[in-house]
Amino acid sequence: MSNIVLLGPPGAGKGTQAERLAEELGRLHLSTGDLFREEITRDSPLGRQVRGYLDRGELVPDRLVVAMVRERLTGDLDQEFIFDGFPRTLEQAVRLDKMAEIDAVIHIAVSETEVVRRLSARRVCQGCGRTYNVLLAPPQEEGCCDVCGGKLYRRSDDAPEVIVHRYAVYQEESRPVIEFYRERGLLAEVDGDRPVDTVFQAIKAAVNRVEMI
Ligand code: AP5
Repeated sequence: MSNIVLLGPPGAGKGTQAERLAEELGRLHLSTGDLFREEITRDSPLGRQVRGYLDRGELVPDRLVVAMVRERLTGDLDQEFIFDGFPRTLEQAVRLDKMAEIDAVIHIAVSETEVVRRLSARRVCQGCGRTYNVLLAPPQEEGCCDVCGGKLYRRSDDAPEVIVHRYAVYQEESRPVIEFYRERGLLAEVDGDRPVDTVFQAIKAAVNRVEMI
């Protein structure tokens, strides 16, 4: 099975690109952030455990993340995945290695200034989860999803001070993960500070390049 990992700071466009890539390549999009938000919305025991971490922009403990991903993979053993936001620590990368075969890892690099600009303007549909940007990609009708008509909301961790903290956490935790995949010859760097379509083409080219090695 061939799986792809998208790494990058908050706001790099992992979710945006993973959704497109999953559709184009016929793979499943697995976002640990989305899975946690679903648990929080359902007010499940896991949701109650992780809510504080997400609100503060802290990483959820590895054991909870890994258990959730393992359960998700077990439910779809014959599927190929685009991992978005996982792994985020060296421990998670090592554990993922034992659960699934990874073919390509794309690191989408974006500056802190751009991250703050994008996330301050991000809005998400309560109904279908589609992401908008009120400055760069607004919905046709203010506050309303183009696809399902759902209400748009701002994520609790998209407050300016939490965005800056999330970026710092990412810089600290991601370095060993990037090195882990670089040493295995699986890593490709993509400049994410460009329009969505340009980044998408660059990711597809990088996936092909790494998968051919
Ligand atoms: P998660 O939901 O994964 O958040 P994140 O990694 O901080 O990433 P984002 O979802 O904020 O950004 P993105 O890169 O997906 O960008 P997007 O496409 O939305 O995780 C949330 C929290 O869950 C974490 O803080 C942690 O608490 C917990 N968690 C999750 N996974 C975990 C793990 N493995 N271990 C421990 N804890 C974990 O785009 C952002 C905005 O920019 C949008 O408005 C979009 O329209 C716009 N945009 C996208 N691309 C472009 C572009 N090229 N040009 C202009 N605008 C663009």
